[in-house]
Amino acid sequence: MIKAAGRAIIEKRNAILQHDGWEMTEASGLPFEETPPSSTDSEAMGGFVAVAKVGTIPEGQGRSFVVAGRQIAIFCRAGEYFATSDFCPHMGAPIADGYVDVDGGVVCPWHAWKFRLSDGCWLDNPKSKTRLECFPVRIHEGNIEIAIPQTATTPHDE
Ligand code: FES
Repeated sequence: MIKAAGRAIIEKRNAILQHDGWEMTEASGLPFEETPPSSTDSEAMGGFVAVAKVGTIPEGQGRSFVVAGRQIAIFCRAGEYFATSDFCPHMGAPIADGYVDVDGGVVCPWHAWKFRLSDGCWLDNPKSKTRLECFPVRIHEGNIEIAIPQTATTPHDE
């Protein structure tokens, strides 16, 4: 039941993104913006994996990538990079399309919930357990690298 609900959200999201002209991958049915540097799933599970070159994500914006089967958003704010799940915890919106504000938050493009990029805290209700999932980021040899824990879950795993 929950898996079906998650799939319905993803299909709705994909329909919106296709309508907006996003390119879709055949394997996952999920959108991607650019091909990341070469990597393997085993590299991504538990270790850092290169996702994009430094400088390819404009200041104050986010971009979406598929990493180890996960849809990941990477943001550039004040020259620093942040990685989160690209599924808003509310209804699965592509958070990479959100508005990055000067306070270090990202505002969801669908219903304007706001999350702190550094830890995923839902800034509209900071005491809530609702969080935007975040991932460690490092810069290595000119690449933006992220680490996805092996225990990370997807919205349709829950
Ligand atoms: S889907 Fe993000 S606030 Fe509703």
